Amino acid sequence: MLSARENSSGRSWLDGALARFEADNDASVARTNSLLERIVPDPALHARLINTLSMLEHMGSHKIMATQHSAGIDRPTLKHVAEEAQHAWFMKHQAEKCAGREMTYLPEDLLAPASARMYFQRLEALIVRSLGSRRNAEAPYLYMSMIVEFRALWFYRLYEKCLKRAGHAMSLKRLIGEERHHLTDMANRLALTGDLSHARAHRFLDEERQLYLGLLRALQHATA
Ligand SMILES: [Fe+2]
Ligand SMILES: [Fe+2]
Repeated sequence: MLSARENSSGRSWLDGALARFEADNDASVARTNSLLERIVPDPALHARLINTLSMLEHMGSHKIMATQHSAGIDRPTLKHVAEEAQHAWFMKHQAEKCAGREMTYLPEDLLAPASARMYFQRLEALIVRSLGSRRNAEAPYLYMSMIVEFRALWFYRLYEKCLKRAGHAMSLKRLIGEERHHLTDMANRLALTGDLSHARAHRFLDEERQLYLGLLRALQHATA
């Protein structure tokens, strides 16, 4: 069984995987920053971005609820679903504050909504397909959450820096802390159940990177 805490070099697998994720996504940093720098100063556009993030957080919490409802559902999973729902609420609150009006998850209030939904659905489909039926019932939930958290952490850190540079009052500090905790929790739980395969996780992260690039292109197109 592999542990999330150790690999042959004694270094935490997760620390190594995070460093690798940073390096693999280096080429997207400038593109993501320039997108954010175009959006943040424009309140109408910015409200739609925040609302899209709210929708993604809501989809995340909904997916956990839809798949994790057995009698054995544990406290960490309930905490996870509660925090993702809280993130959706927080982003919705910030979006409406920015727009000065109520916002829905209808296309006119979102940015590249079809691509945002597709990002989530394609990632989930490929993880479920790859894991097949001979695995722990929790494994797709744990892998999907772990892979998404790599991106959430990476994106929210860039976004937080951009908000600071723009002198924007919104703070992502608490949210980033919770996403970091989710990431560690998912990796540890996968390791504990013996389902953490480093090779598989890296393959999923490679596929996720392609899906993120597609979403990034769609967001650039929607804001051009
Ligand atoms: Fe979240
Ligand atoms: Fe999370």
